[in-house]
Amino acid sequence: MNQTQFYAPTRVIFGADTEKQIGDIIANYGYKKVLIHYGGQSALRSGLIDHVKQSLISKKIDFVELGGVVPNPVLSLVYQGITLAKTEKVDFILAIGGGSVIDSAKAIGYGAANEQDVWDYYSTSALPQACLPIGTILTIAAAGSEMSNSSVITNEAGNLKRGCGSDLSRPLFSIMDPVLTLTLPDYQTAAGCVDIMMHTMERYFNHGDNLELTDAISESLLRVVKKNALLLAKEPQNLAARGEVMWASSLSHNGLTGFGTDGGDFATHKIEHELSGMFDVTHGAGLAVVWPNWARYVFKERLERFVQFAVNVMDVEPCADAEETALKGIHAMENFYHALKMPTNLKELGLNPTEAELQEMAEKCDYRPDGTIGIVKKLAVSDVYAILKC
Ligand code: NZQ
Ligand code: ZN
Repeated sequence: MNQTQFYAPTRVIFGADTEKQIGDIIANYGYKKVLIHYGGQSALRSGLIDHVKQSLISKKIDFVELGGVVPNPVLSLVYQGITLAKTEKVDFILAIGGGSVIDSAKAIGYGAANEQDVWDYYSTSALPQACLPIGTILTIAAAGSEMSNSSVITNEAGNLKRGCGSDLSRPLFSIMDPVLTLTLPDYQTAAGCVDIMMHTMERYFNHGDNLELTDAISESLLRVVKKNALLLAKEPQNLAARGEVMWASSLSHNGLTGFGTDGGDFATHKIEHELSGMFDVTHGAGLAVVWPNWARYVFKERLERFVQFAVNVMDVEPCADAEETALKGIHAMENFYHALKMPTNLKELGLNPTEAELQEMAEKCDYRPDGTIGIVKKLAVSDVYAILKC
């Protein structure tokens, strides 16, 4: 049995119109000066930013703002945010958006609360000692950053996309109003659902003991997201389905579905981070490309788990040959991605990398000191290259 911990301190405030409580919520925590952090256009266009400002003004809470976070958020804006937070003596960061905005807020939170260069926390084993408190208003169900301890930032110098994990950055609260996600483009909805499922799949495909209850939670989560992702592909305005995937987004990456495991594989994520670091692709779409190739490369190392996944999640009829059942499960997942109009290879993703680019991505991957990533099968540079090449 593995030693294990579950720590999920984020207050979840879920349901229609919950964002209207924002002034009260921050006032109750006693914060005085807020940095409102957001992305490109969507939260401005919907009027959400204005509503938040009005709510803060009504409670006499001072604020400054920094928009412009791009998908695959960049270090240069993080530095701007740190300077702003320090000069304005901000004591709280409110992230309004998805994973990119929340991750950028977490990095600003580290940079403002520590003297060290924030990039050290992403590029070396240095760990932050503090973080400004963060709250979120989630506008896309996907990354799970609204409850997770992780954040991923791209350093434009060298296109290095790297993550930092620290419980210090887990949001104090996350407001989740599924209505806010009704304006999402279909592509982002679908990519979000791929990412949500992948956060559980990364943990599900492990190489150690598993708790039956954790497996049952994981398989239920995957089935519910699969069902509602297909529903949303046909009915993007289905609010009940929006609510299901939003709650799943948070539970899938807050550690719950990894409870009792050895931590999970996460090679698919690491390989995808190289794709989005170099080519700025949408994270979920990149995952849909990497996972089937990864799965076919490693499934024999953990055959019984791939069979369980095929039968319990992908509704495959088990056949006498376990390998055939496992492969049918992987194929069913590819069909599901196609039903969501997600790509399953680099060409469908619109990429045609050169040999040198494939090699560079394989070499740059965020390897452990032993030179490998992944748990199901420990992958070295040549394995990662082979998976990318598929
Ligand atoms: O910038 P705006 O105009 O807001 O547009 C965004 C963006 O273009 C748009 N969008 C968001 N909410 C919307 C909306 N458009 C219309 N209506 C709305 N309600 O959606 C686009 C994507 O937003 P983004 O925040 O990038 O999406 P997501 O939540 O998928 O985040 C992706 C980032 O999170 C990282 C990924 O690597 C990627 O950088 N991840 C973070 C993790 C974590 N911190 O725990 C874990 C994940 O595995 C992932 O790596
Ligand atoms: Zn992800």
